[in-house]
Amino acid sequence: MALTVTIVGAGRVGLALGTNLVRLGHTVRYAVRSSREHRLPAGTESVPVSGASEDADLTILAVPLSAVGEMVQALRMPPGAIVVDATNPFGQHLPDGVPSAARLIESQAGDVRVVKAFNILGSEHMTDPGLPGGRKPLLPVAADDDLARAKVVGLARDMGFDAVEVGGLDNASVLEEVARFWGLLAFTGGRGRDVVLVAEQRS
Ligand SMILES: NC(=O)c1ccc[n+]([C@@H]2O[C@H](COP(=O)([O-])OP(=O)(O)OC[C@H]3O[C@@H](n4cnc5c(N)ncnc54)[C@H](OP(=O)(O)O)[C@@H]3O)[C@@H](O)[C@H]2O)c1
Repeated sequence: MALTVTIVGAGRVGLALGTNLVRLGHTVRYAVRSSREHRLPAGTESVPVSGASEDADLTILAVPLSAVGEMVQALRMPPGAIVVDATNPFGQHLPDGVPSAARLIESQAGDVRVVKAFNILGSEHMTDPGLPGGRKPLLPVAADDDLARAKVVGLARDMGFDAVEVGGLDNASVLEEVARFWGLLAFTGGRGRDVVLVAEQRS
């Protein structure tokens, strides 16, 4: 079924995920903070943040974590809305007692279902994820709401990822550490942004 997806932010992550979703026949609109020219995927449009999620099936947050707080109220997400958190709190201080960006967003967004996904790999892998030999990038998905988690896993599999349900939103802190591990491989380890995590089975 074709979904209406609001992507907040038209940067590297937003554009890559949107290109993938449009190819699958979903309707994508970008909630942007300014009328600055963005090179949007064909068939998509930009809209003001105000009210951008009122009628969306799914909202994807693809902005710096520091920008989320001021945006989530303006999006006017209906109660129970599914919000996919693709952010990582790199270089940002989480308030005392808040274990993850995902929990911070949950506290800022009110009555919504937050799903952590798309945060452990570089945006280079998001438009056309397939790897040589038919392998696919690993994509763990964590959420407290079973239906929301399953919906995002299904969508991510359609998009070409090896999506795996990894339990509740408490595990978002682990996924944010996995993103740091990816950075360790890419930069300290010298593997570059091309590196991507894959989960192979021996049998
Ligand atoms: N890049 C990656 O490979 C990668 C991978 C996984 C997760 N992430 C996470 O995904 C999020 C987006 O990363 P990105 O690389 O796509 O960033 P990016 O290319 O810098 O794009 C950021 C987008 O957010 C918007 N933005 C920035 N500051 C804002 C503010 N204060 N208020 C409203 N909008 C603001 C920008 O708006 P303008 O267009 O108006 O400048 C732009 O559209 C981050 O949380 C990052 O940690 C990134």
